[in-house]
Amino acid sequence: MGPLQSLLLLFLTCSVGEGASVFPTFAVSDTSLTHLAVHKHTGDVYLGAVNRIFKLSENLTELRSHLTGPIADNSSCYPPPSVRVCTHKLSPTDNVNRLLLIDYTGKRVVACGSVWQGICQFLRLDDLFKLGEPHHRKEHYLSGAREPDSMAGVIVDQDVEQSKLFIGTSIDGKSEYFPTLSSRRLVQDEESAEMFRLVYQDEFVSSQIKVPSDTLSLHPSFDIYYVYGFVSKIFVYFLTLQLDTQQTLLDATGEKFFTSKIVRMCSGDLEFYSYVEFPIGCTKDGVEYRLIQSAYLSRPGRKLAQALGIPEDEEVLFTVFSQGQKNRSNPPRESVLCLFTLSQINLHIKMRIQSCYHGEGKLSLPWLLNKELFCISTVSGCIGAFTEAQGPSPWRFHLSSQEHYPSHHLSFIELCHTVLCGCAKGRRE
Ligand SMILES: *[C@@H]1O[C@H](CO)[C@@H](O)[C@H](O)[C@H]1NC(C)=O
Ligand SMILES: *[C@@H]1O[C@H](CO)[C@@H](O)[C@H](O)[C@H]1NC(C)=O
Ligand SMILES: *[C@@H]1O[C@H](CO)[C@@H](O)[C@H](O)[C@H]1NC(C)=O
Repeated sequence: MGPLQSLLLLFLTCSVGEGASVFPTFAVSDTSLTHLAVHKHTGDVYLGAVNRIFKLSENLTELRSHLTGPIADNSSCYPPPSVRVCTHKLSPTDNVNRLLLIDYTGKRVVACGSVWQGICQFLRLDDLFKLGEPHHRKEHYLSGAREPDSMAGVIVDQDVEQSKLFIGTSIDGKSEYFPTLSSRRLVQDEESAEMFRLVYQDEFVSSQIKVPSDTLSLHPSFDIYYVYGFVSKIFVYFLTLQLDTQQTLLDATGEKFFTSKIVRMCSGDLEFYSYVEFPIGCTKDGVEYRLIQSAYLSRPGRKLAQALGIPEDEEVLFTVFSQGQKNRSNPPRESVLCLFTLSQINLHIKMRIQSCYHGEGKLSLPWLLNKELFCISTVSGCIGAFTEAQGPSPWRFHLSSQEHYPSHHLSFIELCHTVLCGCAKGRRE
């Protein structure tokens, strides 16, 4: 079972509550589901799938469906043949939905697929009518990687008319075309040249991070898989899975190791100076779980808050990790559900930033910097402070830690395990 179907089940369980034995269900046989978004006011459910987008009512009755594929494509074509003739042979290609977001300001669904190097459709919330599919500028292409679980986005309102979209995506080796993380304009007119333009760009800095070509020449398969994104207060967060370059280099057998990170930046930061990444994972009975599979930010509810001894309005990050650090694409079935409070994550990041700015430790961003830099003493803060120490490259001031993970997991709750990840081995403890 794919991770998205799992999320759907979680949603059902939570909305129906204890004691109920009959859940509304929605099943499809001719496609597989990849993403889910629930409208916060109407409760309508939007589903991304292979070649299809669905709209369901709150009780999971299918109301609409919209066809997105298959499309004549070749992964070597860029831009698509409708813009410029492509010399490669085209064949019908499945369009895997990689991102599905509700843009409340624009009253539309943003649905990005895998064909044509990752272009997006804007669909009207009511009836999934296609409002537009911008594809005439290079910014309209987000990345043609096909894995459904490797792109995540967050919409942040800028003012009444404009929003911006933070987007993290795997790039499938094409770092010259696609940033791995960027913030883009989300404008009213779907076909506007401004749509998806980087929020800021000058000769030196821009609202994006690219995987350096040096990293790709050293580790050709290096990529960052964005599993989940969310916004809280002034910060935007992503949970990612990426190659652990140092452990992989050290391993004599040549086996690949992966690690999960939480990425945080200030939502108002145009130049991405506030980018911080920090390892995240869990241990249970001395065994490490470091392959993130799925996550969701929510309030705990009264019973769980009481059980954990935290306030009901505390934001809790529910995460599912698979065991170990190997086999990202075929992760071990053993997995755990771990809960983190966002305040503890923020405290940990703050302590790390402060100790780094007191000159302790290392920057530890090997994939971005390709070398180990020591922390530089300067002033900490959110926006602006990071620019005070001038250096040859803005990335010099980004922080992370390869040290042991934060031990701020509150609890392992395997109660929901079977439901959430659909594992055969889920059990109640
Ligand atoms: C489900 O919701 C739809 C639309 O709101 C409604 O027409 C239908 O009667 C509902 N079905 C059930 C079984 O409750
Ligand atoms: C894409 O084009 C290449 C070169 O023209 C061709 O070898 C390949 O089969 C094409 N792929 C598909 C899926 O059609
Ligand atoms: C990883 O997957 C391969 C093939 O699927 C399997 O042979 C190997 O045992 C797996 N390794 C781990 C550590 O699970």
